[in-house]
Amino acid sequence: MKVLVTGGAGFIGSHIVEHFQGRAEVRVLDNLRSGFKHNLAGFEHEFIEASILDREAVRRAVEGVDYIFHLAAMISVPESMAKPIECNELNTNGTLVVLEEAAKAGVKKLVLSSSAAIYGDNPVVPKVETMFPEPKSPYAITKLDGEYYCRMFAAEGKLQTACLRYFNVFGPRQDPKSQYAAAVPIFIHRALKHEPITIYGDGEQTRDFIYVKDIAAANVYAATQPAVAGVYNVAYGAKITIKELCQTICRLTGSRSEIKHGPERAGDVKHSMAAVDRLRATGFQPQGSLAEGLKTTVEFFRNKAGA
Ligand SMILES: NC(=O)c1ccc[n+]([C@@H]2O[C@H](COP(=O)([O-])OP(=O)(O)OC[C@H]3O[C@@H](n4cnc5c(N)ncnc54)[C@H](O)[C@@H]3O)[C@@H](O)[C@H]2O)c1
Repeated sequence: MKVLVTGGAGFIGSHIVEHFQGRAEVRVLDNLRSGFKHNLAGFEHEFIEASILDREAVRRAVEGVDYIFHLAAMISVPESMAKPIECNELNTNGTLVVLEEAAKAGVKKLVLSSSAAIYGDNPVVPKVETMFPEPKSPYAITKLDGEYYCRMFAAEGKLQTACLRYFNVFGPRQDPKSQYAAAVPIFIHRALKHEPITIYGDGEQTRDFIYVKDIAAANVYAATQPAVAGVYNVAYGAKITIKELCQTICRLTGSRSEIKHGPERAGDVKHSMAAVDRLRATGFQPQGSLAEGLKTTVEFFRNKAGA
């Protein structure tokens, strides 16, 4: 079996690459826009350093491949607000290039990394896949475009597809230093150094965090189970406040960090939690948990800091 991971040098993609070690031949297509070669250190893979917008490179990348995990994207909501055309080019057109070349090459199935951002700031929780989408940013709009194109390719019999709407993913190799870094790696990074941690707003906002190994497992499951088709939320279907998350991380790290509060961030949703029945009904059961995942992630960053 041969698989292609677009965006394989990134946080989530590198865990899909890791999953397939000793199980399949792995090819990565990544232009290192936000990913790093060191995320793939020690993992066997063929690396094609190019953009998903480079049709020739995509053609080479899909050749002889059974399954594609399509993760390459502009991943940040604020960056997409600042650069909507680049976001559209990369996420919508880029996905179309991958879909077209995958269909031509006879790939068995493509799994698209989509996002809970599609639900926008609809206050209703839990979020169900059948809710009317309310994308509020170019990032969310282009993820929805990707879902529609995946559905169109499947409906036309060109390529089997499945789209996974991730909620908040965390785990080893998530970048704490990027301008658009997520809460978990920032909190851990600062807690380990006993530096002040800023929570935006009152900290009572809730999120549905899922450990990255379960995201990788859901991708593999979606690719290899023919009955998995269409759109699925991927999360634990649970919630934690940002304040509790921060306190848990400070406890796990033995941190003396001071917890500060900053102004609420424009566009932040108050509560986000997934309905997870649709994917569970197909037989998928995540193996991890927030508590265990946080422990492993803290250990990863502790070792990295000590290295
Ligand atoms: N991390 C989360 O919580 C989360 C939540 C919802 C959805 N997602 C989606 O999951 C996917 C992976 O996200 P991540 O958190 O691992 O981010 P990441 O930035 O670590 O990974 C994205 C990868 O895509 C690569 N890339 C970007 N543009 C490219 C291009 N034009 N051609 C080839 N490669 C390109 C980057 O270099 C990077 O390696 C993305 O599609 C993202 O939108 C992530």
